[in-house]
Amino acid sequence: MISQICIVIKGPTIEKAIKQLEIASRTCSLVELRLDYFEEIDLESIRNLLQQFPIPMIFTLRSTSQGGNYRGSEDKRLEKIKELATLKPEYLDLEYDNPLTFKDLKIIRSYHDFEKMPSLDETLQKMTNGDIYKMAFMLHSNEEALVLLQFMKDHRNVLAMGMGPYGETTRILAPLFGAKFVYASIDPETSTAPGQVNVEELSKIYHFQDLNEATKIFGLIGKPVDKSLGHLAHNAVMHHLNSVYLKFQVPENHLKGFMAQVKRANFGGLSVTMPLKELIIPYLDEIDPWAKKVGAVNTLVFVKGKIKGYNTDGKGALDAIEAKIKVRGKKLLFIGAGGASKAIIAEAIARGAQVTLLNRDAQKALELSEKMGCSGGSLEQISEEYEKGYDLLINATSVPDPIDSKWILPNSGVMDINTRNIDTPFLLNAKEKNCSIIYGYEMFIAQAVEQIELWFGKSDGIKEIIQKAVLRAIYG
Ligand code: ATR
Repeated sequence: MISQICIVIKGPTIEKAIKQLEIASRTCSLVELRLDYFEEIDLESIRNLLQQFPIPMIFTLRSTSQGGNYRGSEDKRLEKIKELATLKPEYLDLEYDNPLTFKDLKIIRSYHDFEKMPSLDETLQKMTNGDIYKMAFMLHSNEEALVLLQFMKDHRNVLAMGMGPYGETTRILAPLFGAKFVYASIDPETSTAPGQVNVEELSKIYHFQDLNEATKIFGLIGKPVDKSLGHLAHNAVMHHLNSVYLKFQVPENHLKGFMAQVKRANFGGLSVTMPLKELIIPYLDEIDPWAKKVGAVNTLVFVKGKIKGYNTDGKGALDAIEAKIKVRGKKLLFIGAGGASKAIIAEAIARGAQVTLLNRDAQKALELSEKMGCSGGSLEQISEEYEKGYDLLINATSVPDPIDSKWILPNSGVMDINTRNIDTPFLLNAKEKNCSIIYGYEMFIAQAVEQIELWFGKSDGIKEIIQKAVLRAIYG
């Protein structure tokens, strides 16, 4: 039973509403009947629902002009609301400018803006005659999401939520900012607002029932972040530590605003991905010498208001590699000269490997190899490298099949750094050639363990927990 979730019941028939209520009443302790989605609003049937399901209910009859689904006239709507009020629901949801008032009922006053987040103070001033002031706004950044959450924390009668993809942050983090409850759908089909998260995701991934105002926030920043398995890996560990991990989409031009809000909230750390690994450096109070040498940061640790930056990419990759192949004195052939190669090559060289770097854009390969102190050249030189031989071939590009499989040396090691690549022609061919495969998810797991250790210190069993969550996500 999850007390902070309010499940939204949409019908549209009474029979369907009964089915939804059967599930909802087993899962949470508050529901909202979105009567504007019901095909018919028959008072007797609704009374029966109240009797059949002794769970507190919110009644909502929202017009299309307010983003709801009630298509009758405004007069009819107000009449219907008066009738519904006689059934004495736990709460009645009325728009902030709805002229009706009820003395003997608790009222949620709602303000929606489906385009933007308006001035919060001005909006709240417009809202009167309510027990709860519900503010639902379309958000355009995670900075706005954190501002909205902070506003809710500072105004205890406000229930704030974001809409749109950035709204997810406000839904998941709501209990950390004093929300009375959060609206959620049973499944994606019964969602009533963009950004609404379904109950299963909230409870199984984010352990929503355990979140509270002391929970520490962690997360991934960058863009894109949607494909990342970070939330699955980290929350598997973090829910034992009163912490939660979210994916925050933060494009380059949102970084400044986001970091300003992060400082005001209860953050413990962040993972950093493309395109922010270098851009984040000016926001640090301190940088670990290794991250400074690599010139990129993928982990932030927040301690007493100070931010320290680390880089666990290379260490994670090399730990995954060295679980199978010791690299000292071995020849490693990297394909790809993007941001990801840099940290892995630096760590490989530090562990005594001999590195060659090939890239489609030869100039980029030459620049990076000179910086790293290894040899480099055009991808066309792959035939020569094949003739010379190598111990480990690493796909560090963003594409699954960057080279013709004929250049995979039988019995060598083959690695793909992309977390989700498992059955690409490149890897399947390598398997057929009896190569020892290092999957991207093995590197991902190793670097996630590194991050957890930076945030919480070393502890037994972390790798097993993360591994289980990641393998489940990849192999089902
Ligand atoms: P970054 O990591 O710097 O953001 P990216 O666009 O993600 O860069 O690309 C990462 C690597 O994948 C680069 O080395 C890129 O090669 P180029 O420098 O020649 O662009 C490589 N890459 C992308 N698409 C590729 C392809 N179709 N074939 C081979 N390499 C490719």
